[in-house]
Amino acid sequence: VLDLEFIPFISKEEIHQRCVELGKIIKQDYRDLDPMFLIVLNGAFIFAADIIRLIDIPCTIECIKIKSYIGTQSSGIVKIEDSLPLLEGKHILIIEDIIDSGLTMESFLEVLRKSSPKSIKIISLLSKPEALKTPIHIDYLGFSIPNKFVVGYGLDYAGEGRQLPDIWQLFDENSWN
Ligand code: IMP
Ligand code: MG
Repeated sequence: VLDLEFIPFISKEEIHQRCVELGKIIKQDYRDLDPMFLIVLNGAFIFAADIIRLIDIPCTIECIKIKSYIGTQSSGIVKIEDSLPLLEGKHILIIEDIIDSGLTMESFLEVLRKSSPKSIKIISLLSKPEALKTPIHIDYLGFSIPNKFVVGYGLDYAGEGRQLPDIWQLFDENSWN
């Protein structure tokens, strides 16, 4: 992808297998709750499409585009591009591609809580625990990964690479693993 070198990291088969496992658990947990999936665009669109079809229970689906601006003191402030759907009394399941510093999710959660949902839980395909700057509890996590940049399966590098079926990791010449 572009000027950087990436190496294969998580195959589409491994991703699918993990989606099946997570889907089973979420389906069980939310069977009678008619949850609202809140898909965080752009990154989560492919993961969301796959996992929601595996969960297959009565639900509603909304997409939301958020941008996070890191201020001078590395505090994340999210800007929501559209208006929020009606969350009051709903069981919300946020679907994210990756939790990196966690700052985006932290301030997004703060915004959502103001709309009085009945519950909010997080589904994230990836998490980089070493990069976390604020404690975020991920209720349903696909893979915990090292603090290296990844692309594919919805995740981009400078807007490119989202269409790749597998996940690729930035090749770092300075490390041997
Ligand atoms: P956070 O506020 O640092 O947790 O930012 C999370 C957002 O940064 C994710 O939703 C992604 O859009 C983006 N991001 C973080 N790490 C990566 C990566 O390795 N590849 C692609 N996008 C990433
Ligand atoms: Mg994202």
